[in-house]
Order: sequence, then structure tokens, then C-alpha cells
Amino acid sequence: MKPQNPFTIDTSRLQLGQIIDRTSELQKLYNVVLSRQENMLLTGQHGIGKTCLLKKFRSSVAGEKNEQFLLVELEMLGMTATPGEFLFDLLLKLFAVAYNCITGKPFSTLLRSYSAHRDVSLALTPVIGQLIDLYRAVKSKESSSNLLDTHSLGASVGLTAKKEEKIGANWATGELSTGEQLLIAYELLEILADKGFSRVIVFGDEANHVSPDIEIDLYRSNFEAFSARNLQFVFTGNPALFDKIPHFHELFPNAMELTGFADHKIMDELLDTYCDILKRNGASINFPPETRDILWKISNGVPREVQRVCQEAVDYALVNSEHEISPEVVLRSCVDIYSFVPRKPA
Ligand SMILES: Nc1ncnc2c1ncn2[C@@H]1O[C@H](COP(=O)(O)OP(=O)(O)O)[C@@H](O)[C@H]1O
Ligand SMILES: [Mg+2]
Repeated sequence: MKPQNPFTIDTSRLQLGQIIDRTSELQKLYNVVLSRQENMLLTGQHGIGKTCLLKKFRSSVAGEKNEQFLLVELEMLGMTATPGEFLFDLLLKLFAVAYNCITGKPFSTLLRSYSAHRDVSLALTPVIGQLIDLYRAVKSKESSSNLLDTHSLGASVGLTAKKEEKIGANWATGELSTGEQLLIAYELLEILADKGFSRVIVFGDEANHVSPDIEIDLYRSNFEAFSARNLQFVFTGNPALFDKIPHFHELFPNAMELTGFADHKIMDELLDTYCDILKRNGASINFPPETRDILWKISNGVPREVQRVCQEAVDYALVNSEHEISPEVVLRSCVDIYSFVPRKPA
């Protein structure tokens, strides 16, 4: 059987060990998000490696032992014009973890037993109420009284969905106002903190479905309020997003524009790592220096292009049982995957 080709541009197939370098970018994320506790926006063209960086950052944070981090992934489809749905998505995620922390059961067990939305809302309302009551009982008075005096939360908050709305992704925000959602989210954050999750990081990959009418100021004030409660957002967005919503940047005090691999050596590290994987899979393939030079020139250090050309070239080598990727094979791969336009004479 032909060994599997580790080169790929399908990011979901990449194992952590296949995501190369990004040392300085990770350092910056650590400084901004973990040390300074600020939000971060990762920008850069399609294929430059935003999702890969997010994945690597996520896993290194998850591996930290000294602090309890809760890592949440948020569907960017929830980024509607006003923050209502977005907050509700976030609230559900927080609630699911809080439910799991307190009952020891996964959130899905709660949902599985209900077949109609009405049942879900009937069931969820008291559970949220219990959570908050429980939390109030164990929490000292001083810390909760200032926030809640003028609001009625807990079991009195109706989490009702309209009949026509479906369970799951389409849950309605029901009758919860944005203010109520925020307060419940803050409560849940405190419950989670009591349970040992002192920090929450929300990842939003590909913020490209954001509504063009997004009310940035509203979102920003929510983001700032969450920031003060140890919840940070790390989002990615490509240039199309900023063409559509130039002021999206204003949501984030920090942005980092990702560029390709900084030098040839990093591409070499990628090639060596992937050749090792091939070897473990029973295929000995190498990239001689002249091939590497050509690859560097062609790809301009853009990770996706390095992978794309190498994937094609290694496929060819595997089929033809070749052990060395020659410059010719690289050029032939380019002819197969790129379309060429003659350059204007100088
Ligand atoms: N650090 C990296 N190491 C190895 N390959 C990478 C790396 N970053 C990006 N790639 C390659 O580029 C492709 C696109 O990366 P991705 O993170 O999905 O880009 P973006 O999210 O910016 O569009 C990946 O499938 C992979 O082939
Ligand atoms: Mg991406």
C-alpha cells in the first residue's frame, strides 16, 4: 500500500507536530492574551496560517499546568449586527461547561432527553436558576450583592424559545434581554472561577460571516466588560473581512498581521519534519538543496504554497517510487497546479 502523503492544505488534517514554528507569533499571543489579558485579532491573507497558529496556541495554553484555562470555540456565524445572538451562543457555551462542572454530566445529556423546544426551555430555566442559587449560596454576600440588587435573575428569567424555532444551533435568545444575557454570563464566569476556571479564552476562527451592519461600539463595550472579567477573545479574519467591515479592527486593541515563514530555514524544518513522517510510514524521500531553493522562491515562504507544491511533488514521487524530489518534479507540479500568465516584457 502506498504510504500516506503528510503534505496537505487541509488544515483540519494537520497534526500539531505538523504545524511548524510560529515561535515569535506564539510569544506575542502569550504576552497580549495571557499576560496583559487583552483581546487579539489575527489577520493575514488566506492560507498564511492563521488557523494553524490558533490551533497551536490553543494546544499550548491547554497544556499549561499552573492556571486553569477554559477554552471555548465560537461559531462566527453568530456575529450578527447586534450582539444578541453572539452573546447567546457564548452564554450557552459557558452554561454547558458550568453544567458539566457542577453535575459531572455532559451538557448533551440534558438536551437529549427533550424532544421539543418548549421542553428545553422549561428544563433549562430551573437549571440555570439552580446554578445561580447554588452559586449564591456558596458565594459570600459582599461579592454578589453589588451586581444583582436591581436585577432579578435565576429562575425568574425565562429562557423561552418561540414555537417555530429549533433546538440546537437555532436556539432563540427567547425573552432574555442583552443585559440579562450579560449578567448571566458574568454569573456563569464567577461559577466557573469558583470551580477552578480562572480564565476563559474564546476562539473565533474566520470572522468572515460577520454582518456588515455590525454595531462595533456595542460589541466593543461587551468585549471590554468581558475582558475585565478574565475572558479574552482571540479572533482571526482575512482581508475580505476588512474590505467588507473596515472598522472591525476597532473591536480589538491588538492586531497581528501574519506573514509567511520568515526564512528558508523554517521551510527546511517543515520539509525535514514531513520527510521524517514519510520515513516512519515506510517511504524515504528527500529534497536536495537545489530543490529547496526553487521551492522557497516559488512559494515566497507562504506555508500553504509550500505544502501545495510539495503535496503534488511527493504524490508523484510515491507513485513513481522515486526517492528524491528533483527541481524538475517541482516545476512539473507547479505546471499542474498553477495557471501561468506571461509577464509583460520589461
Ligand atoms: N505553521 C505551519 N506549518 C505547516 N504548514 C502550515 C503552517 N501554517 C499554515 N500551513 C499550511 O497552510 C495551509 C493553510 O493554513 P491555515 O492556517 O488554514 O491558513 P488561514 O487560516 O490563514 O487561511 C495549511 O493547511 C497548511 O498546509
Ligand atoms: Mg483559516
